[in-house]
Amino acid sequence: MKWLVTGGAGYIGAHVVRAMLASGESAVVLDDLSTGTRSRVPDEVPLVVGTILDRALLDDVLAEHRPDGIVHIAGKKQVGESMARPLYYYEQNVEGLRILLAAAVDAGVSRFVFSSSAAVYGMPDTDLVDEDYPSVPLSPYGQTKLAGEWLIRTTAEAHGIAYASLRYFNVAGAAAPELADEGVFNLIPMVLERLTADEPPRVFGADYATPDGTCVRDYIHVADLADAHVVAARRLATDPKTALTLNVGRGTGTSVREVIDLVARVTGRTDLPPVVVDRRPGDPACVVGRTDRIAHELGWTARYDIEDMVSSAWEGWQRRH
Ligand code: WQD
Repeated sequence: MKWLVTGGAGYIGAHVVRAMLASGESAVVLDDLSTGTRSRVPDEVPLVVGTILDRALLDDVLAEHRPDGIVHIAGKKQVGESMARPLYYYEQNVEGLRILLAAAVDAGVSRFVFSSSAAVYGMPDTDLVDEDYPSVPLSPYGQTKLAGEWLIRTTAEAHGIAYASLRYFNVAGAAAPELADEGVFNLIPMVLERLTADEPPRVFGADYATPDGTCVRDYIHVADLADAHVVAARRLATDPKTALTLNVGRGTGTSVREVIDLVARVTGRTDLPPVVVDRRPGDPACVVGRTDRIAHELGWTARYDIEDMVSSAWEGWQRRH
Protein backbone atom coordinates (compact mmCIF):
# COMPACT_ATOMS: atom_id res chain seq x y z
CA MET A 1 0.00 0.00 0.00
CA LYS A 2 0.98 3.62 -0.49
CA TRP A 3 0.97 6.00 2.48
CA LEU A 4 1.13 9.78 2.58
CA VAL A 5 3.48 10.52 5.51
CA THR A 6 3.13 14.11 6.68
CA GLY A 7 6.24 15.27 8.52
CA GLY A 8 8.23 12.50 6.83
CA ALA A 9 11.34 14.71 6.60
CA GLY A 10 11.54 15.06 10.36
CA TYR A 11 13.32 13.05 13.07
CA ILE A 12 10.43 10.65 13.78
CA GLY A 13 8.86 10.86 10.31
CA ALA A 14 12.07 9.85 8.55
CA HIS A 15 12.32 6.75 10.75
CA VAL A 16 8.68 5.89 9.99
CA VAL A 17 9.21 6.25 6.22
CA ARG A 18 12.23 3.93 6.31
CA ALA A 19 10.40 1.35 8.39
CA MET A 20 7.42 1.49 6.03
CA LEU A 21 9.66 0.99 2.96
CA ALA A 22 11.53 -1.87 4.67
CA SER A 23 8.24 -3.63 5.30
CA GLY A 24 7.18 -3.38 1.66
CA GLU A 25 4.93 -0.34 1.86
CA SER A 26 5.44 2.66 -0.41
CA ALA A 27 5.35 6.29 0.68
CA VAL A 28 5.08 9.87 -0.41
CA VAL A 29 6.13 12.65 1.97
CA LEU A 30 4.54 16.02 2.59
CA ASP A 31 6.70 18.27 4.75
CA ASP A 32 7.07 22.05 5.05
CA LEU A 33 10.76 21.60 6.04
CA SER A 34 10.22 23.98 8.97
CA THR A 35 12.09 21.49 11.15
CA GLY A 36 12.56 18.57 8.74
CA THR A 37 15.39 18.26 6.23
CA ARG A 38 15.20 17.11 2.61
CA SER A 39 18.20 14.79 3.07
CA ARG A 40 16.18 12.62 5.46
CA VAL A 41 13.79 11.59 2.66
CA PRO A 42 15.02 8.57 0.63
CA ASP A 43 15.60 9.28 -3.08
CA GLU A 44 12.86 6.87 -4.15
CA VAL A 45 10.23 8.67 -2.05
CA PRO A 46 8.54 11.71 -3.63
CA LEU A 47 8.80 14.78 -1.39
CA VAL A 48 6.16 17.49 -1.64
CA VAL A 49 7.29 20.63 0.17
CA GLY A 50 4.33 22.41 1.73
CA THR A 51 2.01 22.72 4.69
CA ILE A 52 -1.03 20.65 5.62
CA LEU A 53 -2.83 23.99 6.05
CA ASP A 54 -2.85 24.40 2.26
CA ARG A 55 -6.07 22.63 1.23
CA ALA A 56 -5.48 23.10 -2.50
CA LEU A 57 -2.03 21.50 -2.18
CA LEU A 58 -3.50 18.59 -0.23
CA ASP A 59 -6.14 18.03 -2.92
CA ASP A 60 -3.42 18.00 -5.58
CA VAL A 61 -1.20 15.59 -3.61
CA LEU A 62 -4.07 13.19 -2.89
CA ALA A 63 -5.27 13.32 -6.50
CA GLU A 64 -1.78 12.80 -7.98
CA HIS A 65 -0.44 10.13 -5.58
CA ARG A 66 -3.73 8.49 -4.55
CA PRO A 67 -2.45 7.12 -1.21
CA ASP A 68 -4.31 4.25 0.43
CA GLY A 69 -3.77 5.89 3.83
CA ILE A 70 -2.22 8.76 5.72
CA VAL A 71 0.35 8.70 8.53
CA HIS A 72 0.09 12.12 10.11
CA ILE A 73 3.23 13.11 11.98
CA ALA A 74 3.64 16.77 10.92
CA GLY A 75 3.05 19.12 13.83
CA LYS A 76 4.59 21.31 16.49
CA LYS A 77 5.72 19.47 19.61
CA GLN A 78 7.58 21.75 22.00
CA VAL A 79 5.72 21.98 25.29
CA GLY A 80 7.43 25.21 26.35
CA GLU A 81 6.80 26.91 23.02
CA SER A 82 3.15 25.91 23.15
CA MET A 83 2.73 27.72 26.49
CA ALA A 84 3.92 30.95 24.84
CA ARG A 85 2.14 30.41 21.48
CA PRO A 86 -1.12 28.48 22.08
CA LEU A 87 -2.89 29.93 19.03
CA TYR A 88 -0.02 28.87 16.76
CA TYR A 89 -0.14 25.35 18.21
CA TYR A 90 -3.90 25.11 17.75
CA GLU A 91 -3.54 26.37 14.18
CA GLN A 92 -0.76 23.94 13.24
CA ASN A 93 -1.86 20.87 15.19
CA VAL A 94 -5.68 21.15 15.24
CA GLU A 95 -6.68 23.34 12.26
CA GLY A 96 -4.00 21.61 10.20
CA LEU A 97 -5.43 18.22 11.14
CA ARG A 98 -8.97 19.40 10.39
CA ILE A 99 -7.97 20.49 6.89
CA LEU A 100 -6.07 17.24 6.32
CA LEU A 101 -9.05 15.16 7.44
CA ALA A 102 -11.44 17.17 5.26
CA ALA A 103 -9.21 16.60 2.24
CA ALA A 104 -8.87 12.90 3.08
CA VAL A 105 -12.65 12.46 3.37
CA ASP A 106 -13.24 14.23 0.06
CA ALA A 107 -10.57 12.12 -1.63
CA GLY A 108 -11.93 8.89 -0.15
CA VAL A 109 -8.78 8.09 1.85
CA SER A 110 -10.04 5.77 4.58
CA ARG A 111 -6.99 4.85 6.71
CA PHE A 112 -5.33 7.22 9.19
CA VAL A 113 -2.45 6.78 11.63
CA PHE A 114 -2.09 9.73 14.02
CA SER A 115 0.89 10.92 16.02
CA SER A 116 -0.53 11.60 19.47
CA SER A 117 1.39 11.95 22.72
CA ALA A 118 1.61 10.96 26.38
CA ALA A 119 1.24 14.69 26.98
CA VAL A 120 -2.52 14.10 26.82
CA TYR A 121 -2.27 12.58 30.32
CA GLY A 122 -0.95 15.77 31.90
CA MET A 123 0.08 14.97 35.47
CA PRO A 124 -1.13 11.43 36.18
CA ASP A 125 -1.20 10.36 39.83
CA THR A 126 -0.54 6.71 39.09
CA ASP A 127 2.69 4.94 38.21
CA LEU A 128 1.35 3.29 35.05
CA VAL A 129 -1.20 5.05 32.85
CA ASP A 130 -3.41 3.03 30.55
CA GLU A 131 -5.35 4.52 27.64
CA ASP A 132 -8.53 4.85 29.71
CA TYR A 133 -6.79 7.02 32.31
CA PRO A 134 -8.41 10.48 32.40
CA SER A 135 -6.69 12.74 29.89
CA VAL A 136 -6.13 16.16 31.44
CA PRO A 137 -3.35 17.76 29.39
CA LEU A 138 -1.42 20.58 31.10
CA SER A 139 0.05 22.29 28.05
CA PRO A 140 -1.53 23.66 24.89
CA TYR A 141 0.61 21.09 23.08
CA GLY A 142 -1.03 18.25 24.99
CA GLN A 143 -4.45 19.83 24.48
CA THR A 144 -3.92 19.91 20.71
CA LYS A 145 -3.03 16.21 20.70
CA LEU A 146 -6.14 15.32 22.70
CA ALA A 147 -8.30 17.52 20.46
CA GLY A 148 -6.67 15.78 17.50
CA GLU A 149 -7.74 12.41 18.87
CA TRP A 150 -11.32 13.66 19.22
CA LEU A 151 -11.28 15.07 15.67
CA ILE A 152 -10.09 11.77 14.25
CA ARG A 153 -12.47 9.61 16.27
CA THR A 154 -15.58 11.63 15.32
CA THR A 155 -14.54 11.98 11.67
CA ALA A 156 -13.81 8.25 11.46
CA GLU A 157 -17.25 7.39 12.85
CA ALA A 158 -19.02 9.78 10.48
CA HIS A 159 -17.10 8.84 7.33
CA GLY A 160 -15.97 5.24 7.78
CA ILE A 161 -12.24 5.78 8.34
CA ALA A 162 -10.04 3.17 10.02
CA TYR A 163 -7.65 4.84 12.45
CA ALA A 164 -4.96 4.31 15.04
CA SER A 165 -3.94 7.18 17.32
CA LEU A 166 -0.51 6.43 18.77
CA ARG A 167 0.36 8.11 22.07
CA TYR A 168 4.14 8.51 21.90
CA PHE A 169 5.97 8.52 25.22
CA ASN A 170 9.48 9.97 25.40
CA VAL A 171 11.13 9.30 22.06
CA ALA A 172 14.93 8.98 21.90
CA GLY A 173 17.79 7.39 19.98
CA ALA A 174 18.29 6.85 16.26
CA ALA A 175 18.21 3.89 13.88
CA ALA A 176 21.24 5.38 12.10
CA PRO A 177 23.54 8.28 13.05
CA GLU A 178 22.36 10.41 10.14
CA LEU A 179 18.77 10.14 11.39
CA ALA A 180 19.45 11.33 14.94
CA ASP A 181 17.31 14.08 16.43
CA GLU A 182 18.85 17.43 15.54
CA GLY A 183 16.61 19.29 18.00
CA VAL A 184 17.93 19.99 21.49
CA PHE A 185 14.61 20.12 23.29
CA ASN A 186 14.60 16.87 25.24
CA LEU A 187 16.62 15.34 28.04
CA ILE A 188 19.18 13.22 26.18
CA PRO A 189 20.24 15.79 23.54
CA MET A 190 20.22 18.50 26.22
CA VAL A 191 22.62 16.46 28.36
CA LEU A 192 24.82 15.71 25.33
CA GLU A 193 24.95 19.43 24.55
CA ARG A 194 26.01 20.29 28.11
CA LEU A 195 28.66 17.59 28.38
CA THR A 196 30.21 18.35 25.00
CA ALA A 197 30.36 22.02 26.05
CA ASP A 198 32.23 20.94 29.22
CA GLU A 199 29.29 22.00 31.36
CA PRO A 200 27.56 19.89 34.03
CA PRO A 201 24.14 18.53 33.05
CA ARG A 202 21.21 20.08 34.93
CA VAL A 203 18.58 18.16 36.86
CA PHE A 204 15.30 20.09 36.88
CA GLY A 205 14.33 19.30 40.44
CA ALA A 206 15.35 16.39 42.69
CA ASP A 207 12.59 16.64 45.29
CA TYR A 208 9.86 14.67 43.49
CA ALA A 209 8.08 11.73 45.12
CA THR A 210 10.10 9.22 43.08
CA PRO A 211 12.75 6.67 44.10
CA ASP A 212 15.70 9.02 43.56
CA GLY A 213 13.75 12.29 43.69
CA THR A 214 14.07 13.01 39.97
CA CYS A 215 11.33 12.71 37.34
CA VAL A 216 10.59 9.32 35.81
CA ARG A 217 9.69 8.88 32.16
CA ASP A 218 8.98 6.05 29.73
CA TYR A 219 11.66 6.32 27.05
CA ILE A 220 10.98 4.63 23.72
CA HIS A 221 13.53 4.09 20.93
CA VAL A 222 12.49 5.87 17.75
CA ALA A 223 13.12 2.64 15.79
CA ASP A 224 10.58 0.83 17.99
CA LEU A 225 8.19 3.73 17.55
CA ALA A 226 8.59 3.53 13.76
CA ASP A 227 7.82 -0.19 13.86
CA ALA A 228 4.64 0.56 15.80
CA HIS A 229 3.50 2.70 12.85
CA VAL A 230 4.17 -0.16 10.44
CA VAL A 231 2.10 -2.66 12.39
CA ALA A 232 -0.64 -0.06 12.90
CA ALA A 233 -0.72 0.63 9.15
CA ARG A 234 -0.90 -3.11 8.42
CA ARG A 235 -3.85 -3.43 10.81
CA LEU A 236 -5.69 -0.60 9.07
CA ALA A 237 -5.06 -2.30 5.74
CA THR A 238 -6.68 -5.53 6.93
CA ASP A 239 -9.47 -4.27 9.17
CA PRO A 240 -11.49 -1.26 7.91
CA LYS A 241 -13.27 -1.09 11.26
CA THR A 242 -10.07 -0.41 13.22
CA ALA A 243 -10.57 2.28 15.87
CA LEU A 244 -7.57 2.28 18.22
CA THR A 245 -5.92 4.69 20.66
CA LEU A 246 -2.67 3.14 21.89
CA ASN A 247 0.18 3.95 24.25
CA VAL A 248 3.55 3.48 22.56
CA GLY A 249 6.20 3.08 25.24
CA ARG A 250 8.21 0.42 27.03
CA GLY A 251 6.04 0.27 30.14
CA THR A 252 9.02 0.90 32.39
CA GLY A 253 10.32 4.15 33.86
CA THR A 254 13.80 5.62 33.94
CA SER A 255 14.68 8.59 36.15
CA VAL A 256 16.44 11.73 35.03
CA ARG A 257 19.41 10.88 37.23
CA GLU A 258 19.65 7.37 35.76
CA VAL A 259 19.59 8.79 32.23
CA ILE A 260 22.23 11.40 33.01
CA ASP A 261 24.48 8.80 34.67
CA LEU A 262 24.14 6.59 31.59
CA VAL A 263 24.93 9.45 29.20
CA ALA A 264 28.03 10.26 31.30
CA ARG A 265 29.21 6.64 31.08
CA VAL A 266 28.50 6.29 27.35
CA THR A 267 30.26 9.57 26.51
CA GLY A 268 33.06 8.96 28.99
CA ARG A 269 32.31 12.32 30.66
CA THR A 270 31.96 11.09 34.24
CA ASP A 271 34.03 14.11 35.27
CA LEU A 272 31.03 16.46 35.12
CA PRO A 273 28.45 15.37 37.70
CA PRO A 274 25.00 16.96 37.24
CA VAL A 275 23.86 19.98 39.22
CA VAL A 276 20.34 20.16 40.65
CA VAL A 277 18.44 23.30 39.67
CA ASP A 278 14.84 24.43 40.15
CA ARG A 279 11.96 22.30 38.99
CA ARG A 280 10.62 23.03 35.49
CA PRO A 281 6.98 24.20 35.79
CA GLY A 282 4.45 21.65 34.60
CA ASP A 283 6.71 18.61 34.87
CA PRO A 284 4.83 15.57 36.19
CA ALA A 285 6.84 13.40 38.60
CA CYS A 286 6.18 10.14 36.74
CA VAL A 287 4.67 9.32 33.34
CA VAL A 288 5.00 5.65 32.35
CA GLY A 289 2.62 3.94 29.94
CA ARG A 290 0.89 0.60 30.31
CA THR A 291 1.49 -1.16 26.97
CA ASP A 292 -0.84 -4.15 27.22
CA ARG A 293 -3.28 -2.80 24.66
CA ILE A 294 -0.81 -2.31 21.78
CA ALA A 295 0.68 -5.72 22.52
CA HIS A 296 -2.78 -7.28 22.41
CA GLU A 297 -4.10 -5.33 19.43
CA LEU A 298 -0.99 -5.20 17.23
CA GLY A 299 1.38 -7.78 18.71
CA TRP A 300 3.95 -5.01 19.15
CA THR A 301 6.41 -4.65 22.00
CA ALA A 302 9.50 -2.50 22.25
CA ARG A 303 12.82 -4.24 21.47
CA TYR A 304 15.40 -1.60 22.43
CA ASP A 305 16.38 -0.39 25.88
CA ILE A 306 17.62 2.88 27.31
CA GLU A 307 21.26 1.96 26.66
CA ASP A 308 20.48 1.54 22.94
CA MET A 309 18.79 4.94 22.92
CA VAL A 310 21.66 6.74 24.62
CA SER A 311 24.43 5.09 22.60
CA SER A 312 22.69 5.70 19.27
CA ALA A 313 21.92 9.31 20.23
CA TRP A 314 25.61 9.78 21.11
CA GLU A 315 26.72 8.32 17.75
CA GLY A 316 24.38 10.73 15.98
CA TRP A 317 25.64 13.66 18.03
CA GLN A 318 29.29 12.81 17.26
CA ARG A 319 28.50 12.54 13.54
CA ARG A 320 26.92 15.98 13.52
CA HIS A 321 29.42 17.79 15.72
C1 WQD B 1 12.21 14.72 30.46
C2 WQD B 1 12.58 14.92 31.92
C3 WQD B 1 12.65 17.22 32.62
C4 WQD B 1 16.28 18.33 30.40
C5 WQD B 1 7.92 16.26 26.54
C6 WQD B 1 6.51 16.26 26.01
C7 WQD B 1 6.20 14.91 25.42
C8 WQD B 1 7.22 14.58 24.38
C9 WQD B 1 8.61 14.60 25.00
C10 WQD B 1 6.36 15.23 22.24
C11 WQD B 1 11.73 16.01 32.59
C12 WQD B 1 14.01 16.57 32.77
C13 WQD B 1 15.18 17.66 30.91
C14 WQD B 1 17.35 18.69 31.27
C15 WQD B 1 16.18 17.68 33.10
N1 WQD B 1 7.16 15.46 23.30
N2 WQD B 1 15.13 17.35 32.24
N3 WQD B 1 17.25 18.35 32.60
O1 WQD B 1 8.90 16.94 29.30
O2 WQD B 1 8.94 14.41 29.69
O3 WQD B 1 8.01 15.31 27.56
O4 WQD B 1 8.81 15.92 25.52
O5 WQD B 1 5.55 14.35 22.13
O6 WQD B 1 4.92 14.99 24.85
O7 WQD B 1 5.62 16.47 27.09
O8 WQD B 1 10.46 15.41 28.00
O9 WQD B 1 12.88 15.38 27.54
O10 WQD B 1 11.74 17.61 28.01
O11 WQD B 1 12.13 16.02 29.87
O12 WQD B 1 16.12 17.39 34.31
O13 WQD B 1 18.38 19.30 30.87
O14 WQD B 1 13.92 15.38 32.00
O15 WQD B 1 12.39 18.06 33.72
O16 WQD B 1 11.44 15.62 33.92
P1 WQD B 1 9.06 15.56 28.76
P2 WQD B 1 11.85 16.16 28.28
